[in-house]
Amino acid sequence: MRIYVTDYEGQEHPLDAVEGWSVMQILKEYDFPIKAECGGACACATCHVYVDEDWFKRLPPKNEEEDERLDEAFDLKDTSRLSCQIILDESMDGLKVTLAPNPE
Ligand code: FES
Repeated sequence: MRIYVTDYEGQEHPLDAVEGWSVMQILKEYDFPIKAECGGACACATCHVYVDEDWFKRLPPKNEEEDERLDEAFDLKDTSRLSCQIILDESMDGLKVTLAPNPE
């Protein structure tokens, strides 16, 4: 399966992805500049991404924990998600996300 990631320069990258991994893990694997400080524990909001609008509706919804954590994210949008909370399955083949700003 593949996911598509748009970087800070607006360039889209097709990435080979693995079912059962989180989007955050894939981003880390490919050395995208996301901090993901808490390592996927839904405790830091530094793995923030914007999901393509059509895809956003198709993903399993956020739980309360993710919603609360996202409130701490910089430059929140309606399609914001924490990439560590999106666990890939085959229905997400072709998923598109864009890196969100990650202030120091
Ligand atoms: S890695 Fe910390 S909330 Fe996702």
